[in-house]
This record gives sequence, C-alpha cells and structure tokens, in this order.
Amino acid sequence: MPRSVGPGGLPQRAHLWLNEGFPTPGLPLRGAPHRCPAMKTIQKSSKLAHVLYDIRGPIMDRAKQMEDEGQKIIKLNIGNLAPFGFDAPEEVQQDMIRNLPNSAGYSDSKGIFAARKAVMHYTQQQGIKAVTLDDIYLGNGASDLIAIATNALLDNGDELLVPMPDYPLWTAVTSLSGGSPVHYLCDESQGWIPDIDDIRSKITPRTKGIVVINPNNPTGVLYPDSVLQQIVELAREFNLVIFADEVYDKVLYDGAKHTALASLSTDVLTLTFNSLSKSYRACGYRAGWMIISGDKSCATDYIEGINMLANMRLCANVPGQWAIQTALGGYQSINDLVCEGGRLRRQRDIAYEMLTAIPGVSCVKPQAALYMFPRLDPEVYPIQDDRVFFLQMLEATRVMLVQGTGFNWPRPDHFRMVFLPHETDLREAINRIATFLESYRNKHARSVA
Ligand SMILES: Cc1ncc(COP(=O)(O)O)c(C=O)c1O
Repeated sequence: MPRSVGPGGLPQRAHLWLNEGFPTPGLPLRGAPHRCPAMKTIQKSSKLAHVLYDIRGPIMDRAKQMEDEGQKIIKLNIGNLAPFGFDAPEEVQQDMIRNLPNSAGYSDSKGIFAARKAVMHYTQQQGIKAVTLDDIYLGNGASDLIAIATNALLDNGDELLVPMPDYPLWTAVTSLSGGSPVHYLCDESQGWIPDIDDIRSKITPRTKGIVVINPNNPTGVLYPDSVLQQIVELAREFNLVIFADEVYDKVLYDGAKHTALASLSTDVLTLTFNSLSKSYRACGYRAGWMIISGDKSCATDYIEGINMLANMRLCANVPGQWAIQTALGGYQSINDLVCEGGRLRRQRDIAYEMLTAIPGVSCVKPQAALYMFPRLDPEVYPIQDDRVFFLQMLEATRVMLVQGTGFNWPRPDHFRMVFLPHETDLREAINRIATFLESYRNKHARSVA
C-alpha cells in the first residue's frame, strides 16, 4: 500500500482524522482522542481456530499489496470467470435487468416461484425423483445454502465426512457449525477417486453425513457411477445424509457425462447444491439452489431446522434469483466453451501440457471444472511449508496460486491452478512458474551436492 494511503483506501491523514477526532464543521470540538484504558485487544472467536480459506488468504493479501505498489499479478487462485472475459449469457443479464424493478422487496425465504419451478424441472431432466417446489431453496450462491445445511444438522462433536483435498468451505463451515470435519482420502494414484475403504473406516456413531464434490474442485475429476453407487450404499447402511456439491455439473470436457448423485436413490436423504456461478459464469450474481431429495419422512426435524435458518436470513439476493429461470432453460452456451476447440477446453489442454512438461511436476488430467491439482515431487522439490513457497513464487513471478494445504491436503506437495486466463496470459504464467521451479531445483541440487 503506498505510504499516503491508509486503511479502506482513505488517505493516511484522513484515517488519522477519523481516529483522532478531527473537528467537523458545525459540530462541537471533541476532546482528546479516546483511548481504551487497558488497551485490551479484541480477539477473533475461537470457533475460527480450525477455519481455513486460503483461496482468499495471506497469499492474496500479499498480492493486493503488490498491486497497490503498481505490480500486475496474474491471478490463478480463484475460479472467478468474469474477470477473464467469460461473460454471463446476455439473455440472462437482460432478464435480470428487466426484473430489477420487481426485486426491491424480500422474496419468500425459499425463493421466487419461477426460479424454483425451473430448478424443479432441472431435477426432472437429471433423473432426481419426486422433488416438489417445497424441496427447493434458493440462496446467495451455493455457499449460503452449504452453511445453512451444515448448521442445521450438526451438534457439537458430530462428524461430517469431507473429501481430502476439499473445497475448503466445507471443512470451514463444518467446524463453524460445531461439528468435526473428518477427511476421507481421494486417491491420486487412482485418479483422485474417493477411497471407499477409507470412508468406511472413518465412520463412527457420531458421523452424520458425507460431502461429495463431483465434478471435483480442486482436482477437476469426475467420479464414475460405480463409485457414486458405492457412496450411496454406504450412506444407506450407516444412515448418513449425502451432501452433493455439483456446482460444476455442466463444465465437462471430452464428452464426459455427469450423473447427479441424488438420481441414484429414492431413499437416501440427499441435499444437492448448485448455482449460476460456474456453468453460467455469474459468480457475482450470488444465485444458487439446494434440492432436498430422498426419504424426507425421517428428516422432518432437520428440514424444520433448515427452514428456520432460511427464514432467519429472510431471503437470497432477489435480482440474482430472476436470472435462474432464464439460465436453466434454452441454449446452454457453456457447451461452446467446453467442446473441442472451445476456449475452456483449449486452456485446460495448454495448462496440462505445459505444467506436466516441467521436471518433477505430474498431474491427473482434469475432465471437468476449472482447476488442476498438480503434484510437486518431494524428491525434486523438498518443500517444508507450501504457503511460504507459493508466497515466494508470487513475489518472484507475480503469479498467484494456492498451496495444496489450503485444500486440507496433508502434505506440502501440491498446488491448485485455475486455467481461466486467455491463452497468452496462461502461457506467460506457466512459463514464469517453470522458471521459478527451475531455479528452485538448481538451488536444491547445489545444496544437496
Ligand atoms: C466445489 C464448490 N462448491 C461451492 C462453491 C461456491 O459457489 P457459489 O459461488 O455458488 O457460492 C464453489 C466455488 O468455487 C466450489 O468450487
């Protein structure tokens, strides 16, 4: 941050005025600046002790500082499509604008009728059975509904099975809900597929549910139906609620087909999460939905809890809700981006080829989503602290990545990369990463010799 600028972008001097009682015209002169007698520090809640969200963490804070100093950063840290020229469909934007005058009031806490009806029809296309309007909730993105669903379910000490690596919101909200995230292994040697034996070995009397992220963030993997079926069987056997996070269900490459987990049973209670953020390139609209399916007769109390929490936050952003019906119907422009020759698919291929050409870097090729989760061979890159490593990479290259431990991966030997920038920027970014890794290898080889 330049020296003349203080917090909140205010000039340094203005910041001092605000803190020290600069005379305001028309108001009586205030006395000496007020100071707390004991200067007691204000601490964050201990509930945050196990909360981690490094996609927007210290590396991003440093990148912001560097930007304030005038440096240009290539941001490969977050799946935010619009800044890279992936526009939301025009018809969706227009319909939202047209409905803005009808959006000033709170809506029903579950959301507006037209959007929920469109989501209901979508569940019918996906083969999810017996979903009524009442089973559909709209939220401020999937994130809002994920927090509601976990808070309504978990008592202190209850366990939720969460994948490892994960999209870290799941681990964070589980902890914040008072629950304990228990991580099950997605096995890189098997193409990052969930390890069913590992899941089974981690189920205890306190296990309430299992989170399945498919297509997966951060690995970009799509799970085969046989694995999904085994997860459903486990959930049935141990009476677990399934949380199916499917926000990338239309971002699929190489002709891959996604199966909605909820379509595989009519009995297991399944909460499915989706949104306009990724498939419709509208992260900022904050428009998401949750579908409750399966046997709801055993979950009336849980559903009452969900309704209470949905009511307490009144409703989701109403302009964003108006975008949902238009998005889900009609032409699906995401298909133009993921097909052969499409921009996303081309960038996936470039990123995969360039990264895996770097010595000591390997990667399962993503079949879906916007990410890769490459491995840095610890023999070649003996990294001790991956957050420090990627902070150093940012400073040296002006390329921002997120370290693997930011996704609750237990070892400092992976990172996540977003392949959203245009081809020229993507190539430039990976070339800089390659140069940084080369200098690390050289330094390490010298220190070993
Ligand atoms: C797997 C996964 N789930 C949920 C979300 C949250 O999405 P939303 O923008 O709908 O809140 C994300 C965002 O990146 C994600 O990757």
